[in-house]
Amino acid sequence: MLQKLSDCYTLNNGVKIPCIGYGTFKTPNGSTVVNSVINAVKAGYRHIDTAHRYDNEEGVGEGIRKCGVAREELFITSKLGNHHHGYKAAMEAFDLSLRKLGLDYLDLYLIHWPAPLVCRENYKEKNAETWRAFEELYRAGKVRAIGLSNFWKPHIDALLETAEVKPMVNQLEIHPQFPHQDLLDYCRELDIQVESWGPLIQGKAFQYPVLKEVALKHGKTVAQVCIRWALDKNVLPLPKSNHFERMVENADVFDFTLDAEDIKKISSLEVYGRIGKEPDTAPF
Ligand SMILES: NC(=O)c1ccc[n+]([C@@H]2O[C@H](COP(=O)([O-])OP(=O)(O)OC[C@H]3O[C@@H](n4cnc5c(N)ncnc54)[C@H](OP(=O)(O)O)[C@@H]3O)[C@@H](O)[C@H]2O)c1
Repeated sequence: MLQKLSDCYTLNNGVKIPCIGYGTFKTPNGSTVVNSVINAVKAGYRHIDTAHRYDNEEGVGEGIRKCGVAREELFITSKLGNHHHGYKAAMEAFDLSLRKLGLDYLDLYLIHWPAPLVCRENYKEKNAETWRAFEELYRAGKVRAIGLSNFWKPHIDALLETAEVKPMVNQLEIHPQFPHQDLLDYCRELDIQVESWGPLIQGKAFQYPVLKEVALKHGKTVAQVCIRWALDKNVLPLPKSNHFERMVENADVFDFTLDAEDIKKISSLEVYGRIGKEPDTAPF
């Protein structure tokens, strides 16, 4: 039973991962992200999510060094950029991320997208090579867990044909508009922990009266309902906010659960569907 922000899920290799992560997508490099990371740690977050693509790894690293909490107490994730698939390129990209972050190991490294435009035609072979690099980094102790992001069933199945180490995580668009239940069930079958990106529907959650209604019933906020919704599915949400009060609010979700009536109401939002791109047709 999760009771606080630093409580953990256990990955399929035994590594513990704090049950809510702090997202940094679109947070500019420099003082904004440095202060955001410092504030997030002050608010109790111990899990920070960044990516090569966010172009803010230097600032995230500076925030980590300045936050006053020991590196070993933090869980840091980064992701491989879309132009770095393949064995050699992935190895180099990992080193570059470590250098930018100023770290000597990562807790989790993810393949950000399964079939980027640059290798869409031969993505299966490219992912197999990339995964070989990830496995080597994992075995060398440079990263404590390795995983995927935006991988749907066909991408996972293709990777598993040659993988020697099973991915520990799949980071997916998951929120009340897009629960992606069949993929969630498939990942659960494989013992792959699912993380939710866009847990607040990238801010759209606040426009829905049905979420306000459920929030009011529990004396909570819309953001808290969305984050609780993810945790109740054993999904690991990664809410992003650059405001300290909201960071605190988004973490105050351990004193209520949603009942069947709430879940039914929330499911009415599924008609709106995903907000992100489909991995096989994304224009990047
Ligand atoms: N793997 C992938 O492809 C992928 C894709 C997208 C995101 N991600 C990861 O997932 C994380 C979360 O997703 P996201 O950043 O796209 O969207 P999100 O967390 O669903 O929503 C963030 C938006 O909600 C606002 N917000 C946050 N807390 C709030 C609150 N309590 N009340 C009112 N507004 C609030 C934020 O504004 P303020 O900042 O102004 O508070 C921001 O505009 C990202 O930061 C990133 O780490 C991964």
